[in-house]
Amino acid sequence: TTVYLNGDFLPAEQAKISPMDRGFLFGDGIYEVIPSYGGRFVGFTPHIDRMHSGLAQLSIDIKLNHDAWQQIANKLIADNSAELGSNLGVYFQVSRGTDTKRGHAFPTNVAPTVFGFAFAIPPEPIADKAKATTYTVVTGQDLRWQRCNIKSTSLLGNVLHYQQSQTQGAQEILLFDKDGNLTEGAAVNVFVVKNGIIATPPLSSRLLPGITRQVLLAILEQHSKLKVEQRDISEAEVLAADEIWLTSSSKEIAPVLRVNDQPVGNGQVGDIWLQAQQLFSAYKF
Ligand code: PDD
Repeated sequence: TTVYLNGDFLPAEQAKISPMDRGFLFGDGIYEVIPSYGGRFVGFTPHIDRMHSGLAQLSIDIKLNHDAWQQIANKLIADNSAELGSNLGVYFQVSRGTDTKRGHAFPTNVAPTVFGFAFAIPPEPIADKAKATTYTVVTGQDLRWQRCNIKSTSLLGNVLHYQQSQTQGAQEILLFDKDGNLTEGAAVNVFVVKNGIIATPPLSSRLLPGITRQVLLAILEQHSKLKVEQRDISEAEVLAADEIWLTSSSKEIAPVLRVNDQPVGNGQVGDIWLQAQQLFSAYKF
């Protein structure tokens, strides 16, 4: 595997980062995951925009612009597709950099550490009820911090919540804040459908502004007559939903068929999901 580290492309086993890197010591960094199929990226521009926004919120200054990121991503795909196949995610991580000591204060005159690698992802999702990858989820209280809109590499909260779902025999967890409102999953945004109306929580510091969520909302608005609401959603509403979807870059729109061991709606992949995934497949950018 060829990876990118601080301006160089090199074999993964030769890529070395100091243990004094703030990404390692503090989780002080930002990351992105961008999917590509046959060399074509989905959502490249909004993914890079979100990364730059996260870096700005952490006051991490980075010299790379969109074109530079695009060139790195293209080379990671070109150099790794023979080994890893044509469905590839590109992971980018920027940490605040390597300091000489461990101190909480932002160091001065430290260059950010920039890392990128490509990894195999599942084939491009298709709008076919019989072929959809479906999910079983549980519910739980969201115990993460209050700046979940930042795609931080400090993922302990998400990791523990994800593991909670695995321990309970599920594949994701739907999280609710102290007021009982749905936030998101451990690594996905969440949509519900009731009586043909689609709803998802509004953007806030309690959830990641997912690119799949953003692109799906734009497509539904532009290319369908489906009614879509961004509003608070209670646990009772989630449990009574006709359909529940998980969205993320590699899953696109994934139907949930069971919550807490109960079927969602009629327990089958839904008709609105089919329409939404058809539209997403046709118009995603
Ligand atoms: N996860 N919410 C959280 C907490 C996430 O970690 C992710 C993505 C999403 C969906 O965002 P997007 O549509 O931009 O992929 C929502 C990535 C893929 C990960 O950590 O691997």
